Amino acid sequence: MTSTQRREPVNTPLPSPFPEGWYLVATRQALRKAGLIQKTWMGETIVAWRQDDGRVCVAESTCPHLGSDLGPAAGGRVRAGRLVCAFHGFEYDAAGQCVATPFADPPKTARLRVFETHEIAGLIFAWWGIDGREPQWSLPDDALEHAGWSALAIKTLRFPGHPQETTENSVDLAHLRYVHGYDSVSRADKLLVDGHYLESRFDFRRTRRLGKIARLTFDISAYTRIYGLGYSFVEIREHTIGMDLRLWVLATPVDGELIDMSLVSQVREIRAPKRRVAGLGFLPPRLRAPLMNKFISAMQERDVRQDVVIWGAKRYRSRPRLARSDGEIMPFRAYCAQFYSAPRDDVEERPIPSAPDAAVR
Ligand code: FES
Ligand SMILES: [Fe+2]
Repeated sequence: MTSTQRREPVNTPLPSPFPEGWYLVATRQALRKAGLIQKTWMGETIVAWRQDDGRVCVAESTCPHLGSDLGPAAGGRVRAGRLVCAFHGFEYDAAGQCVATPFADPPKTARLRVFETHEIAGLIFAWWGIDGREPQWSLPDDALEHAGWSALAIKTLRFPGHPQETTENSVDLAHLRYVHGYDSVSRADKLLVDGHYLESRFDFRRTRRLGKIARLTFDISAYTRIYGLGYSFVEIREHTIGMDLRLWVLATPVDGELIDMSLVSQVREIRAPKRRVAGLGFLPPRLRAPLMNKFISAMQERDVRQDVVIWGAKRYRSRPRLARSDGEIMPFRAYCAQFYSAPRDDVEERPIPSAPDAAVR
């Protein structure tokens, strides 16, 4: 190499399309409706059903007896809360244990591999561990108050992507302005990282057109709590109307290439809007939150569709050339590293690099 040649930093790909963590499987409502759900989730084919007592089971989709597929398309069904295999009628309970067969005692060793589940607001998540290991941390308890809130609006988009890349956008403050057109984006507090948990608070303003004449300006404070790469929960206070929202952004790897991104939103009842919003004040209070939730859900979907164009064509740069306005990309990536490999005793822990403290204005 001559002295004028520079050595380019080596960009390495993301270690795996399946970072360890909790990922959405289904909603309780969808399970109730379908009875038995089969899907590709974290590169595995799984089934999910609920027992009569409400317990949910998420399990592998291959029968331990002679290997039949347990999904509905192959004849698998739920009877009296048990999953029944179509081939020889072995029955499985919510712990995955075979508890009955038509012609003999159930073999004790006939047991499905099950995934630990956790439910929040009717959203059912399951743990996916490196080498099938047990949950290393848990999602928060479902302590959310739902009285006085609209029903959840849920929209799922499927596209080529990675949950680290999609979650990274929540700390990439510059793109909020450049891609989505937010104004006055500023960090309200320092990024907080505590093990598997990451917390980020920022404020911004957004203006949206309603029809040809009306323009709505929202002043927003967002409080994002991330529990691994499959669960981001954002509490939002909109100051001009006086509106509280909850958003969940749930990225779930499908097959190593595609991800499902479920956008879930909920709005608190708006008793006395602080300002007139396109007739909101004339609506009965019980209709205001569902209406605003529809509006918010559409806004959220529009944002994600803008991101999808970029995600679909970008390449991961492990050594990005950052500007001071970028927000905390590298601390975020240091946080993500824990989701790819079990900690090794022989590796010294490296401190999280400090972030530029610039706000984006
Ligand atoms: S393969 Fe499922 S019962 Fe035999
Ligand atoms: Fe975005």
